[in-house]
Amino acid sequence: MKGLIISGGKGTRLRPITYTSAKQLVPVANRPVLFRVLDAMVEAGITDIGIVVGDTAPIIEAAVGDGSAWGAEVTYIRQEAPLGLAHAVKISEDYLTNDRFVMFLGDNVIEGGITSLVKQFAASDWNAQIVLKRVEDPRRFGVAELQDGRIVRLVEKPKDPPSDLALVGIYMFDHHIFEAVKAIKPSWRGELEITDAIQYLTEQGYQVYPYIHEGWWIDTGKMEDMLEANRLILETNESRMEGFVDADSKVNGRVVIEKDAEIINSTVRGPAIIGERTRVVNAYIGPYSSIYHDCLIADCEIEHSIIMEHCKITDIHHRIEDSLIGRNVEIVRSPAKPRAYKMVLGDHSKVGIL
Ligand code: G1P
Repeated sequence: MKGLIISGGKGTRLRPITYTSAKQLVPVANRPVLFRVLDAMVEAGITDIGIVVGDTAPIIEAAVGDGSAWGAEVTYIRQEAPLGLAHAVKISEDYLTNDRFVMFLGDNVIEGGITSLVKQFAASDWNAQIVLKRVEDPRRFGVAELQDGRIVRLVEKPKDPPSDLALVGIYMFDHHIFEAVKAIKPSWRGELEITDAIQYLTEQGYQVYPYIHEGWWIDTGKMEDMLEANRLILETNESRMEGFVDADSKVNGRVVIEKDAEIINSTVRGPAIIGERTRVVNAYIGPYSSIYHDCLIADCEIEHSIIMEHCKITDIHHRIEDSLIGRNVEIVRSPAKPRAYKMVLGDHSKVGIL
């Protein structure tokens, strides 16, 4: 089987982070979401992987490279405009040929990987298998209706959902999907919808089966979703200590201290992760915090936040919480006089002040 990862999109809901990076590259528990998707594919035995890229192609390609870091062979497929998931499949036909494949949206995080579902589909003669999850508000997603164990109908973002089974963003297909993506027309939002293509398969009598996912699943479009995915992954991390913790520091709970990190006169209360070469000095790092590589965190308190690489946060008198901080950000105390906030903020930045 081959893999197809969809990693386009502008990520407007994650500005300003996405002005300079791709939403799929935001680290959750110190590993970018897209890397976790690649991990899951390779763990399921899939090493022939196509990545559909858009405007952020250079950034994605620089981060993932040829896939050798995963022992995989990655091929990039350029989508000139965001014309929909079915369009992404259509332009990948030359790459996918007649192979069965699993398609995975590059901004989704799923508990427990995809090995069991990939195995089930590989052993079947079904034409498609779609991962579904029971959710409280199905109106935000594609929704499936089942009958006698098969999928019989799909609707994209329905006002009146036929069930509580949302499409998770992981789909498995055989080559009949190409017939479907060529037959459908763009939706009201001008996109070729994958839900319409799957609906076409069911109408033509092809065998489309569900796979109901029981663990958690997060579609990380917004900052709240990133923090939630971060929280859920940190909770399952095993403690690991590869850095240095001095005798005056306390490290409690599930904490990962990565290589060459230093914890000096500080408290780290897990679940939390401290990245490579990061220094935490006279500070408190609370539950659900991920501090990425090469940061300096001194004389401050951070909880339930993601801090990306090369940040300097020092001498802040109130706790920083529920925050997503991009790369190379400095949050430091202003000189004593004149007493004032001094900021250089990119477009769409958000600051909460006490
Ligand atoms: C897409 C699919 C939708 C699915 C969702 C999962 O929606 O069209 O059916 O439920 O991904 O993340 P989008 O994120 O493009 O709005």
